[in-house]
Amino acid sequence: MSSLDEHDLMIEADVRASDYLRSVSTRNVYPDQSQIAALSEFDEALPEYPTDPFDMLRKLDMLGSPATSVSTGPNYLGFVIGGLLPAAAAADRMVSVWDQCASSHANSPIAAKLESVAKDWVLDILDLPRGAAIGFGTSATACGLSCFAAARRELLARQNWDLDNDGLVGAPEIKVVLPDIAHITIFKALRILGFGRRHIRLAKTDKRGRIDSDTLPPLDRNTILCLQAGEVNSGEFDPFIPLIGKAQKAGAWVHVDGAFGLWARATQTHRHLTEGLEQADSWTTDGHKWLNTPYDSAMAIVKDGDAFARALNADAVYATAEPHAQKNLTLEFSRRARGIPIWAVLKTLGRQGVSDMVERHCRQAKMLAKGIDGKNGIQVINNVVLNQVLCTTNGDETPADFTARMNATGKVWFGTSVWRGKPAFRLSVSNWRTTDSDIERAISILTQKRFSRL
Ligand SMILES: Cc1ncc(COP(=O)(O)O)c(C=O)c1O
Repeated sequence: MSSLDEHDLMIEADVRASDYLRSVSTRNVYPDQSQIAALSEFDEALPEYPTDPFDMLRKLDMLGSPATSVSTGPNYLGFVIGGLLPAAAAADRMVSVWDQCASSHANSPIAAKLESVAKDWVLDILDLPRGAAIGFGTSATACGLSCFAAARRELLARQNWDLDNDGLVGAPEIKVVLPDIAHITIFKALRILGFGRRHIRLAKTDKRGRIDSDTLPPLDRNTILCLQAGEVNSGEFDPFIPLIGKAQKAGAWVHVDGAFGLWARATQTHRHLTEGLEQADSWTTDGHKWLNTPYDSAMAIVKDGDAFARALNADAVYATAEPHAQKNLTLEFSRRARGIPIWAVLKTLGRQGVSDMVERHCRQAKMLAKGIDGKNGIQVINNVVLNQVLCTTNGDETPADFTARMNATGKVWFGTSVWRGKPAFRLSVSNWRTTDSDIERAISILTQKRFSRL
């Protein structure tokens, strides 16, 4: 391909991408059956010879774009996955063409610089210990796994157990205490690390989904306690002050899963929900949820950055680096500079812009809850403390049927869930594009009676 063609191809990709973005407010939020069926056109044999990249791109857009779930549009109220801020998308475009292996300063001075600035800004806006280290990883799942690995290694090291050389055979048992409604990915991370489910102690949560600190299982210096800032269904927060107080007395390690909820800390109105969590040892959060960065964008934040870097170190004879190089704080050795879109969002929104976005979503969630509760058989069953609205139906339509009927309109999309053993559906507001008019529109769709035409 000539450099002229390369230039034209990139322009065509950008034009197609911006055409897609221009359509996200009016597109059906989810593809219909025919658009999904058309994906079978991708079922072809591996090409023996080169294909024209322009043809490839055309096919990708013509068949692919209609088969997207338009989660980057304003009417997507499904999983808490945010949208894509233009500044983040633009910065990510540069990251793609720079094609940096952002493992260390030696491999990419620009990535190392901006990820270091992003680290300082994230610690500042979330008001977490300024000396902490941040690994910019792929997901809250991977970042949680990294934090648990560091926590276990450190708790054992405090008892002079050399995990790196002696492994776990014969080591003191490290226990884990989790809320009984911890996110599934916490269980996954622990399972991968070899913490058997039967050895995990579950802390009882109250009706709202917060750990009851009076019934917390015993903690000691061999315990990792995992707390939640933003429970995935209800949006609730554990009571950090009493729980972390107990953990500190016992010498336990405290980890906070704040995949989306940690961003409440960037606001004035909702910060109180997070009070005390700054005393924890580690935290995870995502950029690709409430900060509206592209995938894969997450953060593992560890107060004792040196302990974290010792646990994740990957220095090789041909690739040694500064201890806090990103390859020594994440699971990857070769990696994308995921901190750059995070830097771009913080640079363009600033402290005030992030706070405004998060506060707006929380206000809109309340507006949504008020607009639908008691109508069309809908019952809101959570305290809308954040951006999550959890509902059930009490008419003759199950939550699953109701959800399917609404999603079939193509005008909204959200998912089902289960709360305290009962079927539910869940609406999340986390996209920068969602305006109050979009919420009003969603209310009118959700309160349409069955059999009426939309
Ligand atoms: C509370 C909570 N923790 C962890 C995760 C996992 O995050 P990720 O999808 O980035 O792995 C999620 C994702 O929905 C979540 O809501």
